[in-house]
Amino acid sequence: MARGMERLRATVVAVSVAFLTLGCGDSATDATTSIDPPPPLDFEATAEDFECLLDWDRVRNIRVTNALGFLDEALDLAREPRAGEQYPVGTIIQLVPGEAMVKRGPDFDPDNNNWEYFELTPTADGTSIRVRGRDDVVNQFGGQCFGCHADARDFDFICEKGRGCVELPLDDAAITAIQNADPRCD
Ligand code: HEC
Repeated sequence: MARGMERLRATVVAVSVAFLTLGCGDSATDATTSIDPPPPLDFEATAEDFECLLDWDRVRNIRVTNALGFLDEALDLAREPRAGEQYPVGTIIQLVPGEAMVKRGPDFDPDNNNWEYFELTPTADGTSIRVRGRDDVVNQFGGQCFGCHADARDFDFICEKGRGCVELPLDDAAITAIQNADPRCD
């Protein structure tokens, strides 16, 4: 009888120890998961990020660079456009020196695939930013950037040709001439 009680007490102690150990493990896990994850990658362009377009790779009509080291990925998608895929954060795409699209982080403007549109003034001394954002940014013909580029939503808002965007009154020769006249290039 006494030996039975001993065994019972030993079992209770063993179970309590196991329970305590489990409790410890749990609180250790809680401590780990309560550390905040790092903020998602973002890229906020400054005027210095906009350079002579002729120094950037040209794919068809577009000039492409990436400020965060993802140039290979950006060029790969430019060369082989794939519906549903998005350019990496830090990508800057331009058709003409005075307008740009910059890929921001995932929280910037998801309905617009996180593009930030720019009206720029390029001069021989460098670039200044006139307007940036989405709704208030318009091109030299008065059209809202987002309004046109949203028609190419399936191709990450990049219009190029045949994706449903209202066309610009500029043919390929005119686009090339405008790029070649970029005042920031020596
Ligand atoms: C009237 C519609 C329209 C408006 C408004 C417009 N775009 Fe575009 N955009 C186009 C079209 C069409 C192309 C393709 C041109 C081509 O390659 O023939 C284009 C090309 C571009 C490109 C090269 C990548 C691409 O999508 O082909 C960039 C970058 C660009 N536009 C930025 C802007 C910015 C910034 C604004 C506003 C300041 C703007 N656009 C306003 C229609 C528009």
